[in-house]
Amino acid sequence: MDDLDVIILNSLLVSRDKYISGNFLAKKVGISRVGIWARLEKLREQGFTFDAVRHLGYRISQEPDELNASLIRAYLSLENSSVKIVFFPEIDSTNSEAERQLADGREVPFIIISSKQQMGRGRLGRKWHSPEEGNIYMSYVFRPQLPPARMQPFTLWMGLNICELLNRFCDLPVKLKWPNDLVLNNKKVAGMLTEARVDSDQMLDLVFGLGLNVNSDCKQWPSEIAPNATSLASEIGNFLPINNFAANLIIVGVKAYQQFSAGNYNTDFFKLWDRYNALKLKSVTVKTQVSSLSGKVEGIDDEGSLLLKDALDKKHVLRVGEVSLGNSEILSSIST
Ligand code: BTN
Repeated sequence: MDDLDVIILNSLLVSRDKYISGNFLAKKVGISRVGIWARLEKLREQGFTFDAVRHLGYRISQEPDELNASLIRAYLSLENSSVKIVFFPEIDSTNSEAERQLADGREVPFIIISSKQQMGRGRLGRKWHSPEEGNIYMSYVFRPQLPPARMQPFTLWMGLNICELLNRFCDLPVKLKWPNDLVLNNKKVAGMLTEARVDSDQMLDLVFGLGLNVNSDCKQWPSEIAPNATSLASEIGNFLPINNFAANLIIVGVKAYQQFSAGNYNTDFFKLWDRYNALKLKSVTVKTQVSSLSGKVEGIDDEGSLLLKDALDKKHVLRVGEVSLGNSEILSSIST
């Protein structure tokens, strides 16, 4: 990632459809006009297309289809966000990389983002299918000054905020399926994995991992995943501008974390839960490692536990579990 590229791209994004002169860019970046031209040539190799018109200058006509760190940073700076992002075209797992960077002493907060993972992981030690490009694999790293008990609803809170973005940004009815799935048209479109290091009474650090299927073609997925999973593009029938989208996810995630750690999220939590709860009044079966319980979903408590009423009208409070709808497995996890 190159700071000068970020400034050039940011200027081009600000001017949008209007042309911006090579002279202006050169002054802004502090290099020659030929230097600007050479940098635009290099950006072209990364998948950008620029219109160049004599006496007018340049404008972006097409952005890369794949994640591009400079473009994400240019979008972030449009929103005055200075959060640190560390991009890898390919990595074993963004959560694992986050742990390594924490161990190396990188200052928090920061975000690891990648186009591909060789060993993406999901809940309960499962694999997270992430070998092809077109999706977003991302880990947000924070250091909440909070007791571990306060963190219980964190993953749900982040998921609800991401639902809000997906509904607003793509106009897609993405919902949260307790405890860690985002679903679209009854299929899993994203998974969340929060991992933390805790001391006895204090969080040390927190890694929130998000795998979001954006532009990948789900027809190519392995048969054990394909029936229950989807991507945003597969549902809307066209590609999303993935870099703008990644920047928005970063901004929303960081803001949601700040609100959570300040402790003033409670009212919004229940409002968003009500709006985006995929299990509203549904009959479900919740399996834990030791039991299986069927009943109707009544709601959630402020610790993020699922409230279930069984056939005998007995109420249950569930902190963990795998949910399936009735006897069907339609909404079960797509991790393998
Ligand atoms: C699940 O549904 O089981 C959770 C899946 C979480 C996957 C994401 S992809 C980015 C981050 N890195 C990982 O290795 N896992 C999480």
